[in-house]
Amino acid sequence: MASKQFKRYLVTSALPYANGPVHIGHLAGVYIPSDIYTRYLRLRGCDVVSVCGSDEHGVPITIKARKEGVTPQEIVDRYHNIIKDSFERLGMSFDIYSRTSSPTHAATASDFFRKLYDEGKFVEKTSMQYYDEEAKTFLADRYIVGTCPKCGNDRAYGDQCEKCGSTLSPEELIDPHSAVSGSVPVKRETKHWYLPLDQYETFLRNWILEGHKEWKSNVYGQCKSWLDGGLQPRAVSRDLDWGIPVPVEGAEGKVLYVWFDAPIGYISATKDFTPDWEKYWKSDDTKMVHFIGKDNIVFHCIVFPSMLKAHGGYILPENVPSNEFLNLEGDKISTSRNWAVWLHEYLDEFPGKEDVLRYVLCANAPETKDNDFTWKDFQARNNNELVAVLGNFVNRALVLTKKYYDGLVPACGELNDYDRETIAEMATVKGSLESNIEHYHFREALKDAMNIARIGNKYLADTEPWKVIKTDPERVKTILNVALQITANLAIAIEPFMPFSATKILKMLAVEKFAWDSLGSVDLMAVDHRIGEPELLFEKIEDDAIQRQLDKLEATKKANQAAEASQKVEDQKEEIPFDDFQKMDIRVSTILTAEKVAKTKKLLKLTVDTGIDQREIVSGIAEHFSPEELIGRQVLVLVNLQPRELKGTLSRGMILMAEDADGKLRLLGPDEKTVNGAIVG
Ligand code: 2FM
Ligand code: ZN
Repeated sequence: MASKQFKRYLVTSALPYANGPVHIGHLAGVYIPSDIYTRYLRLRGCDVVSVCGSDEHGVPITIKARKEGVTPQEIVDRYHNIIKDSFERLGMSFDIYSRTSSPTHAATASDFFRKLYDEGKFVEKTSMQYYDEEAKTFLADRYIVGTCPKCGNDRAYGDQCEKCGSTLSPEELIDPHSAVSGSVPVKRETKHWYLPLDQYETFLRNWILEGHKEWKSNVYGQCKSWLDGGLQPRAVSRDLDWGIPVPVEGAEGKVLYVWFDAPIGYISATKDFTPDWEKYWKSDDTKMVHFIGKDNIVFHCIVFPSMLKAHGGYILPENVPSNEFLNLEGDKISTSRNWAVWLHEYLDEFPGKEDVLRYVLCANAPETKDNDFTWKDFQARNNNELVAVLGNFVNRALVLTKKYYDGLVPACGELNDYDRETIAEMATVKGSLESNIEHYHFREALKDAMNIARIGNKYLADTEPWKVIKTDPERVKTILNVALQITANLAIAIEPFMPFSATKILKMLAVEKFAWDSLGSVDLMAVDHRIGEPELLFEKIEDDAIQRQLDKLEATKKANQAAEASQKVEDQKEEIPFDDFQKMDIRVSTILTAEKVAKTKKLLKLTVDTGIDQREIVSGIAEHFSPEELIGRQVLVLVNLQPRELKGTLSRGMILMAEDADGKLRLLGPDEKTVNGAIVG
């Protein structure tokens, strides 16, 4: 089947939640690919609109606001600005970066809902849901925590236990309580509107499973498994006071579900960008492509298309390229654990190195499987690829032109076979680069672009103009002419990936931007044209800069461990009068002997010198300490505990220990040796 011809493109990039800044995982998964694709289309002269914006609704934003004691609007304003600014600094070239708290969006999402409602496309259902009486809010499953019935993890969520991986429902949790207020939730009746996805199954099957076999296998596979599992109606409203009010009678206190309004954000952003927005959303000859992360697949391939279908009049996406996840130094990126490289921080800490990050994240993009970002790899790619290959070639071509011809492009004499081979090789890159970008294989596409620099480097290394200049200066003119043409080609080929460097090359060549179609051509640089001043395109990244980043991550790891340990501390026991404390007789004592109690796993029989006497104590610590490490230690002993017979020994007292939440025991004793019998209190 001949592939369809499109007149224009609409590129959407998942709207990031405005409850935190964006990190490298978001960039590698969504934004770098979408920007490469968009820039490429623009260079080709296509009619393309690229939209994005902040996703400013949803429960996590309200929770964050509550925790910080500010309004949700303050939270979204803060992060919208951080995200928008950092995207701009990274060279993201959205035509508009909008936000879902905008008036256009409220009206668009509201009208969308209303139309579906008026046409009877929703099912209304009443159900019992968990409600937090203290915080006066219904609770999404994620905001109910309790003990996992499968593994005993006492911080399992109402939808999942992250410790054992089980899928749960709030009903299954032992001791469920609200993550918002800590109170025990009650069940309350509530009415919601549902989109009956089951009614769209046939349409989705035909459209995706039959019509889009070319989608990436991770996307296609997820769609297939959702469809094979059978679709259920999905609620599109929520009981919440933050969001777009449900625009119907009797829906007070209810808002549109964030996943209902967010994708409509693509439409409202386009509206805010151009009055001609309908051309992009409602013509069959527009190619719409959604760039998303893999956790968004179901919403963009199943839910939003069903909404669009239900509404009618809108086009559907032609493709939904989605990457896998990027890890950081071997660990899952996590906003809550601060395990991330935050874009705004990177930009502050590596000024002028926007393209390095763009390059590394594309070269190492998790296109087919999860991948790992490491600072060492970042450094190596910068030093060995950007500096040594790309920067080195461009620099040599320009510096030699400056040196031999005072910056004037020399004339190209007769080409020899090797020149012709080099030029032909360079020209073949174009087809491969185009095909790779058009098929969303951005890693391969970047390799193609870098190949031009490799070809150039090899050409200079093989032709050695710095030597030939002494014997055959005419030949050097041809070599440098070819080298400059290759440099100009590089400015075209790398632009989608590294726009700052492409601009820098153009400035150094003192030429205007070329069209994509010029790629492969060797008459881009006119003879006698004067080039500008050569500058270094990239600089080496030294070990200390990398070490600073590793130290920062190490500090995060330590802080997380400390926070985790402190979170697990048991609640304080009931208060006691001083007299009760006084009743305890605790003495510094030395352990004289220690031996395992036969036929038990846990018990040790100790002889201790309490200063008062020498006595036997049986203690359940055999799994924590060997007899050898105890003998000679000064410890604290509660000596007036009522004696108890244990395995034939009368145990007279208790060795005091500290036990952490993981059950690890530590002995307690004086910080310096003291007399046995010293009173503790
Ligand atoms: O996963 C996310 O970050 C969502 N905020 C993406 C929304 S994409 C779209 F539908 F708006
Ligand atoms: Zn569990």
